[in-house]
Amino acid sequence: MPSLWIGLQIIRRRDWLIRFSCVLTAAAMLVCAVVAPSAFAQEKNPYAGDAKAAKLGEFQFRANCAFCHGLGARGGGRGPDLTRAQKRHGSSDSELFRTINDGVPGTAMPPNGATQQGVGMTEEEIWQVISYIRSVQVKAPAQPMGDASHGKQLFYGSAACSTCHMIQGKGGRLGPDLSTTGSARSTDYIVESMRNPSRRLAQGISEAMKEFSQEYETITVVTGDGQKFMGVVLNEDHFTVQMMDTRENLHLFEKDKLRSLEKSRESLMPAYDPKSLSDKDLQDIVAYLLLVGAQ
Ligand code: HEC
Ligand code: HEC
Repeated sequence: MPSLWIGLQIIRRRDWLIRFSCVLTAAAMLVCAVVAPSAFAQEKNPYAGDAKAAKLGEFQFRANCAFCHGLGARGGGRGPDLTRAQKRHGSSDSELFRTINDGVPGTAMPPNGATQQGVGMTEEEIWQVISYIRSVQVKAPAQPMGDASHGKQLFYGSAACSTCHMIQGKGGRLGPDLSTTGSARSTDYIVESMRNPSRRLAQGISEAMKEFSQEYETITVVTGDGQKFMGVVLNEDHFTVQMMDTRENLHLFEKDKLRSLEKSRESLMPAYDPKSLSDKDLQDIVAYLLLVGAQ
């Protein structure tokens, strides 16, 4: 038995080595494939203003990018809104080409060819995608921008957003961290989140093993000994539920030990109607979130 076991290990080991060297070769090929086109890429989009190319680019975008950047490139939670004229990693044709081809290291933005399909876009197709992005890009800021510094005062002051939300490490934890919301979400989405929070609940932190990320559902439980807790669901499986209550305490409950468990899609965030938060103040808070998101 033991010798058979050792034999197996050696076979496995060798198998592993072969696989490893294959991976190395593949990686080297990938590096060449990724580096080559960007080195020779031209400065200007050869399809600039070409509606047909933009249409072809839209197909590429739907297949490779919408998953993160949302339909219409308006931001999808995982990737930023690309309809803004000002891009964080450079707004010129050649800078966009580089971002799309090389990805943004250290973030979820993958280099060309690293998505599930594995086949990268050709240089031509990347230019078509850029034509598409240009076609949906807003020409100028849609509305006159609000006053971000007043927005910040409201956020931490009378509007009390910071009791539940953190920005750059400061604030509460019941609601999602809003440090990157300004870049990940469209302005319309942010406005709707404030005016009508229950319509679309925020997505929580997604885990690699889960197909869908947990939403910020509202939960109320009564424990076996009669204690009542209300808060947001952080994680849930068949047997347990993890939640944060409104006082920011974390709890892990075994479901069958609870007296009751109720979930609802009514957000714990109060709806800010125009009476409690004027349109002008709302614009100022949006401007603050956009400013922070752009940093
Ligand atoms: C797995 C998710 C994901 C996919 C797929 C993805 N992106 Fe991204 N993308 C991101 C993230 C996250 C960022 C923001 C990186 C950062 O933090 O700066 C980003 C950034 C960008 C930027 C830079 C924006 C700026 O403000 O500078 C561009 C342009 C872009 N992506 C285009 C694309 C295109 C085109 C595709 C499809 C070919 C694509 N992305 C696919 C997640 C993704
Ligand atoms: C009582 C706590 C509470 C207060 C106060 C509060 N929020 Fe929220 N907020 C939440 C919770 C919980 C969620 C997640 C559920 C949902 O999407 O409505 C949320 C979600 C959001 C989202 C959606 C984020 C995403 O990625 O989808 C935005 C934007 C937002 N809040 C902004 C604000 C702003 C701006 C203020 C102040 C004007 C504010 N919130 C005040 C609790 C609060």
